[in-house]
Amino acid sequence: MANFPDGFLWGTATAAHQVEGANTSSDLWLMEMMADSLFAEPSGDACDHYHLYPRDIALLKQLGFDTYRFSIEWARIEPEEGFFSKAALDHYRRMIAACLAEGVVPMVTFHHFTAPLWFTRDGGWENAKSVDRFARYCEQAGRALGDIIDYACTINEANIPIMVTMMREAVGVAGGGGRRVKALDEAARLCGGAPGKFSPYLSGDGHAATPNLIAAHRKSYEVLKPLVDGPVGITIAMNEFQAEPGGERLRDTANHAINDQFLESLKGDDFVGVQTYTRVRFGERAVLPPPDGAERTQMGYEFYPEALEACIRQAAAVSGCPVIVTENGIGTEDDTRRIEYTRRALEGVLRAIGDGIDVRGYIHWSMMDNYEWLEGYRPKFGLVDVDRATQQRKPKPSAYWLGDIAKRNAL
Ligand code: BGC
Repeated sequence: MANFPDGFLWGTATAAHQVEGANTSSDLWLMEMMADSLFAEPSGDACDHYHLYPRDIALLKQLGFDTYRFSIEWARIEPEEGFFSKAALDHYRRMIAACLAEGVVPMVTFHHFTAPLWFTRDGGWENAKSVDRFARYCEQAGRALGDIIDYACTINEANIPIMVTMMREAVGVAGGGGRRVKALDEAARLCGGAPGKFSPYLSGDGHAATPNLIAAHRKSYEVLKPLVDGPVGITIAMNEFQAEPGGERLRDTANHAINDQFLESLKGDDFVGVQTYTRVRFGERAVLPPPDGAERTQMGYEFYPEALEACIRQAAAVSGCPVIVTENGIGTEDDTRRIEYTRRALEGVLRAIGDGIDVRGYIHWSMMDNYEWLEGYRPKFGLVDVDRATQQRKPKPSAYWLGDIAKRNAL
């Protein structure tokens, strides 16, 4: 048995759009509902977490976790530019208070992929105004909620737009690019926007968005620091990038654009959130598929839990910040594989800590099965099963297993 450091955070994560339901003022609601949608199915009522959060937070605590990472929804808080909904802010205040009443640390993410429709219609993160728009929203939400927030994450996976864009460029239009552009133009038309301007987080132009995202994090960090009663940071999507012989140059180029330019910009932040699911291997000319015979998850990713340790080491070395694992998990119908994946990932966390790296917590993605974006409800990332017809929750064996590790603070 090996112990984690005292005060190590043990949590589970969700994101508003994936669990709350009826996020009708958001950009993705429109894109999910339109004809010829890119999404496998609409999010609909999701897990109705918007109403059921008290019992979900109680369940999380009962299972043994002490931290809940969730996001507040910008599209609900500022459904029209400049109108801030007090009712929505009050809702999130009750939700944070519910965590505190259960003895659960609230870790609040201010942006997790979705945005208000008006924001995305006007160029989203490609528009330089996004920096001030996001900071203004953070200021309003920070004033309303900051005094009871324990940890704040500004932007979830600020590097994912560039990662998705570079992957898209590598695959070309054959990978569905034409359909994406058509869907964006149709969404623009439906909401009265200009063609070519509608830019949702995961399907816009990551090259144009990246400088604004980095600037938005810097600005919102400064805005939130005096308002939040605890550490403020960002989260980064990190796969372990490995080079096969001859693939070093491609790997290094991708690594700089996708990981290090973000990590380098974080120097002095209170923490960096690392979110890891697998590794990516680079050949001389292209990203390579998982090796023959390798086990794959429901997302098609290689089953490779060891990636987490490498990403923690890289994030700590390049950013110089303390690390919190803010997401790690696996899409699978086979819960025994979730346990195996998580056990091996945690062994890696312990090795990193053993080498003196300052890792402050492990937050599993996800608390419950939920809306996996383009893939719809098929991939199962949850520790807890959700029957969406009845909204019944049923913890899986992995929930009890990981909750027990959390209680003992030891593997
Ligand atoms: C995102 C989550 C997503 C998870 C699993 C992360 O990139 O933050 O929203 O559900 O990966 O794919």
